[in-house]
Amino acid sequence: MKSKNVCLILAMLCNVQMIGQQSALVINNVPRGTSEPMVNIGLEEIVRENVAQRLNKLLSDEYVLYVKTQKYHWNVVGPFFGSLHKLLNDQYDQLAGIIDETAERVRALGFKAYGTLAEFIEHTSLSEDPGNNPNANDMIKNLLKDHEMVIRELRDYIKYTADHDDLGTENFLADLIVIHQKMAWMLRAHLLNE
Ligand SMILES: [Fe+2]
Repeated sequence: MKSKNVCLILAMLCNVQMIGQQSALVINNVPRGTSEPMVNIGLEEIVRENVAQRLNKLLSDEYVLYVKTQKYHWNVVGPFFGSLHKLLNDQYDQLAGIIDETAERVRALGFKAYGTLAEFIEHTSLSEDPGNNPNANDMIKNLLKDHEMVIRELRDYIKYTADHDDLGTENFLADLIVIHQKMAWMLRAHLLNE
């Protein structure tokens, strides 16, 4: 009699829990298998996903560029060490801000941001030069080439977001292109004629 009551109580508790889970799924409109609520910001899921993929690709490029800029900041030598060391410090600080904002933009669209070096390396279009420390002028040239590639990439992404009415990301990317163009100008201005 006693064990029958225990079974009855357990069955009731399980039933209550099941009903609770089902109603939570309906009320919060949470997709099965995730713990995050649906994003309802007037953009179709496929658009948000395509934009998030582009932002994750951009995030990978920004991260590689950040690391490369920091490496050159550490290892640059020559008569212009002081100004180049400072310039590269300023630029990797700016890139750190861009990285954080880009990842958070992915999250605002309802997707997960890449967050491992393996993902960044897999998805970047930029190349690193492990083991090499070019001369100061070649460091500047390498970074300039990378910024210009990111700028061209940003132009494509801005077109995509404009064509798909993602005004928030379009504005965000338009701000980034201005920042990258200024960084590219600063690098160009430090290049020596050879
Ligand atoms: Fe430093």
